[in-house]
Amino acid sequence: MSSALAIDNLDIWRTQLGLMPVPLFGQQNERRHVLLNGGKGNFCLDLTGDAHDHGAERDRAWSADVGHYVKVDRDTVRVWRWDQSSAETYTRGLVADNIVKFQTYLEERQPSKTSSVVSHFMSIYRQVRTMLGEQVTGPEALQAFLYLLASADEGQNGAVTRIDWSKLPRAQELAGSLSDLQRDGLREDMIRVRPGDQLKPIIPLVLRHASGRLFQEAHYLVELDPQLSFFGASEAKKVGRDSASGAFFTPSPLVRTVVEEALKAQPPINADITVLDPACGSAEFLREALRQLQMRGHTHRVKLVGWDISPAALAMARFVLDWERSQSNLDVEVVLEQQDALRLDSWNIGARLILMNPPFISWQGMGDAQKQRLTDRLGALASKRPDYASAFFYNAVNALPNGGVIGAVLPASLLDGESYVELRNTIAAEVKPHLIARLGSHTVFADAVVDAGLYVGVRGQLDRPPLAVWSNHKADSSARALRRLRSITPQTVKGYVADNGDFSVYAAEHLGQDGRSWAPRSYTAYRLLQEIHGLPLAKTLFDVSQGTITGLNSVYLVSREYAENLPKGERKYFRPAVVNNSIVDGVLNDTTYVFYPHGKGLEIDSEEMLLKKLKVFAADRLLPNKVALRKRSRIKPDQWWVLSLPRQRLDAVGPKILSTYFGGSGSFAWDPDGRYIPIQGYGWAPKTAEIAGCEEAYVALLNHPLTDILLSGVSNNLSGGQWNLSERYVNQLPLPKLLPDAPITETLIGMGSALNSGESPDRDLWTRAVYQAYGLKLQA
Ligand SMILES: C[S@@+](CC[C@H](N)C(=O)[O-])C[C@H]1O[C@@H](n2cnc3c(N)ncnc32)[C@H](O)[C@@H]1O
Repeated sequence: MSSALAIDNLDIWRTQLGLMPVPLFGQQNERRHVLLNGGKGNFCLDLTGDAHDHGAERDRAWSADVGHYVKVDRDTVRVWRWDQSSAETYTRGLVADNIVKFQTYLEERQPSKTSSVVSHFMSIYRQVRTMLGEQVTGPEALQAFLYLLASADEGQNGAVTRIDWSKLPRAQELAGSLSDLQRDGLREDMIRVRPGDQLKPIIPLVLRHASGRLFQEAHYLVELDPQLSFFGASEAKKVGRDSASGAFFTPSPLVRTVVEEALKAQPPINADITVLDPACGSAEFLREALRQLQMRGHTHRVKLVGWDISPAALAMARFVLDWERSQSNLDVEVVLEQQDALRLDSWNIGARLILMNPPFISWQGMGDAQKQRLTDRLGALASKRPDYASAFFYNAVNALPNGGVIGAVLPASLLDGESYVELRNTIAAEVKPHLIARLGSHTVFADAVVDAGLYVGVRGQLDRPPLAVWSNHKADSSARALRRLRSITPQTVKGYVADNGDFSVYAAEHLGQDGRSWAPRSYTAYRLLQEIHGLPLAKTLFDVSQGTITGLNSVYLVSREYAENLPKGERKYFRPAVVNNSIVDGVLNDTTYVFYPHGKGLEIDSEEMLLKKLKVFAADRLLPNKVALRKRSRIKPDQWWVLSLPRQRLDAVGPKILSTYFGGSGSFAWDPDGRYIPIQGYGWAPKTAEIAGCEEAYVALLNHPLTDILLSGVSNNLSGGQWNLSERYVNQLPLPKLLPDAPITETLIGMGSALNSGESPDRDLWTRAVYQAYGLKLQA
């Protein structure tokens, strides 16, 4: 019963809410902690019970970059939000009885980020840059900023004495080049009470809890011209975040989870340990590893090795790790090197722990040298167009000693992409997964839209199945799934299932054991796929083909009204098109048309003929866009009006099932006359004569909500939740083989035909028929 919850016990907060406590000031036996949740809802928890210690609560929360300061006293719980001057007081019993609601309440009442401690220090960094002028580069100005920041830590043995400045050679000199007045002004801004909201920065807390985010923000600004600072941070971010080095940063909840799980994956290491991050950025992984090793009672020597190509990242890493080391009671060695990790022949430095969020760079985004290095590293495993991160993954696995652990953030495509089958196969032979996660929210990385996965594995054998972690597209699903992990131990993994519509965490016996997809799916989909295992896959029954590519939809796609108003002779060049809103609830509409001068004697051989046959359309749409149309790839300059890639083979199929490009159940329709040209969509033509004539029955199956569950088992979603219906995914959908004269086929054909004409079949009968076709039992 929750009423008995002793909320003055830190463990209650950890176990009941899955929060991770980190000592506020980093001292032993401290009774003040920062409780880390996920992206939001982190707070300070003060269990000192010290009635005389008051006045600095808001400053502490603000400086530690969390929303609230919560103080548990004998009878009350007081809550300060840093942007509000007074505390709210609750009875202790009320909070103890409603601890989950209390957490949600904190999560939902976050102060605005615009006045956060990170924004405050970023504005100071921008001042430093402007003061130093354009001749000083971004990374150099950062060194000066770090020096000023460390100097502002006034306490005994302040931060400035704890950093090895010889590794940041321009820091002191550039800070010294500012006038006394400038330096004093900057220092004042770093330590004094802010006039507006009366908040005072506490530098040790900023360094301990906010430096990760602070340095990430700084890094985005580092590469920019100082002029850009006048536009403010949000403008600058757009420029800074999309670099060809794949340098977006890892949000703290992900770093924390990867490190926690990597340390859980193997029994504690009672020996000296080397930890490597081959693309360390500002060393968030290395710092977290040191913190967590210490919190777990590690007593031996720790060597932290970080490589990165970016000098600015290394400057921050140097600062972060020197500072962290100075706070740690462990014997810590830090080795940071500017390295292109893929140029190194071997990563074999005896690291038992390799932690990383390597650069994600698509093949198209790489320069020639990067492509070359990647293919050299992957050797025979390089297939099609791999992501840069795949070579980091492969190298890391090869460098692990037996029993060593890898914890990595990876592009989700690596988990299920066809180009990585051999790579997965090879890695699976060496490393056994402890955890594989696929995070459905594409905004896991605050500002980069990235489809990410996590992999934690051990070289050698493991005596338990891996944990599969899946979350859907909703904003907080990933954080909730990751929080759930905190209560699972290697001993409780076997048979573990936590399933909620938005995320699942479960033991998945066969996951990550060979080259097949490693992408975890929702538990419901996982179970359903197991239940209908053995049914043919869509690819054996249908030829699913991508539709026509026009090369410039804004020119070629027109509304039905537009097409109807063209002169009669021109109308025959237009066909109804399938675009993303052409199929709604299984009903096909022809509100969009496409210019289609292909097949049926409609070819246009010369510009002269074009102008003659399509006087109106050519004058209205084609000629004004001639330059852009000629620039399309695959186009011959003397045939600039044709579509980039018409799919005449698909068109020649005639009647076919159509789907949109993105969607789910409700996105499939039957085109009995073969009139439609899929543009943002796909055509499904039977591969075998056995099922010919049953297409409408398949339409009834595909439009049923069960398809959404199956799609969640084989496809990936967009940020809005729609499934990708490309052939590479839907080919894996299990489908029953429906034969024309079977009664169930007849029933389903009736339903498919009703659906296509806009009538909904009786829901229960429809479900019963679909389940029967799949051979599934309906739960009462
Ligand atoms: C996605 S970031 C992650 C950094 C760090 N883990 C973090 O979260 O702050 C990738 C990092 O890889 C670095 N990088 C890119 N290419 C590299 C290479 N070839 N060798 C080493 N580091 C590289 C970038 O400079 C960037 O700091």
